[in-house]
Amino acid sequence: MRFGFAFGGHLAKDKQICVLTNRTASSNITKIMKPHRSYFLSALAAAALCSGFCFPGGVAPAAEKKLVVGFSQIGAESAWRTAETESIRSEAARRGIELKFSDAQQKQENQIKALRAFIAQKVDAIILAPVVETGWEPVLREVKRAKIPVVLVDRGVTVSDESLYATLIASDFVQEGRFAAQWLAKKLKGKGNIVELQGTPGAAPAIDRKKGFEAVLVKHPGLKIIKSQSGDFTRAKGKEVMEAFLKTEGKNIQAVYAHNDDMALGAIQAIEEAGMKPGKDILIVTIDAIKEAVQAVADGKISVTVECNPLFGPKIYDIVEKILKGETVPKSQSNKDELFDATNAAKALPTRQY
Ligand code: AHR
Repeated sequence: MRFGFAFGGHLAKDKQICVLTNRTASSNITKIMKPHRSYFLSALAAAALCSGFCFPGGVAPAAEKKLVVGFSQIGAESAWRTAETESIRSEAARRGIELKFSDAQQKQENQIKALRAFIAQKVDAIILAPVVETGWEPVLREVKRAKIPVVLVDRGVTVSDESLYATLIASDFVQEGRFAAQWLAKKLKGKGNIVELQGTPGAAPAIDRKKGFEAVLVKHPGLKIIKSQSGDFTRAKGKEVMEAFLKTEGKNIQAVYAHNDDMALGAIQAIEEAGMKPGKDILIVTIDAIKEAVQAVADGKISVTVECNPLFGPKIYDIVEKILKGETVPKSQSNKDELFDATNAAKALPTRQY
């Protein structure tokens, strides 16, 4: 089954992004001269073309200039995130971009420090995967003052001034939650007790996947979330929280809704250790579609996993290039994601990329 998430594609006409700093202007010219993704700039040609705009006073750089991008990543809490990091890193290497990578170990304060370091290093653009939605305005204002465009990847932020970032590229988390709930409601014929493993508190996917799931549940009064707790998007915490749910609710549970596959895989371990059969005694619906989870669907342990594609590398640098060329980009863009259940999981396995 293929679902096209539909929120992307609208142009923010009143918020056109045209970032032409000294640094970015030189990248623009690079693209015009070398359309085959080479970011090295001939100093002479740059000096001629920029004629004082790029290098005030007519002082041209002595050597070729490489595009420098800072990437503030949340951490490595899930297989999904590791795949995202790998995609963004390998695509930078492929295009000859210098990527300054910072792992925040799940802490917003570390991401804020990383952004300030990127300003000091005068990077050309910043890619930010924000751990939580709020608390970004002050640092994003500093980045804006430094005229560095920010591309948000996979998670959004809540800010009063949307010009603080150039664009967001992500999946539609609300829709993912809806798909998971619709599938479950059909399977359980609108009746059953659900336990929910939430993602990191305050994170966009935790908020939106809950919202989407609950929006469907209100139409099915026989389906109830009887317990809900954060498993922090990790396998270990997912297992721990599921163990606690099983202790208090046991056979009263018909289904688990996990906000990501890693927590679902942790829940499978807890269910099996409790002597029950995941996929039979307790159904599991989850999100991400990492290869291990699609395998678990094929094995009958997970009922459905909704895809959330982490392979942002090629798209993200296409967007960065456009912004640095002064082109207008949509304020948000979404991925086309799929859903894997018993009907298509086994067939999809050989070509799963993450
Ligand atoms: O932001 C995307 C979510 O973050 C993924 O679903 C999850 O696995 C990751 O940690």
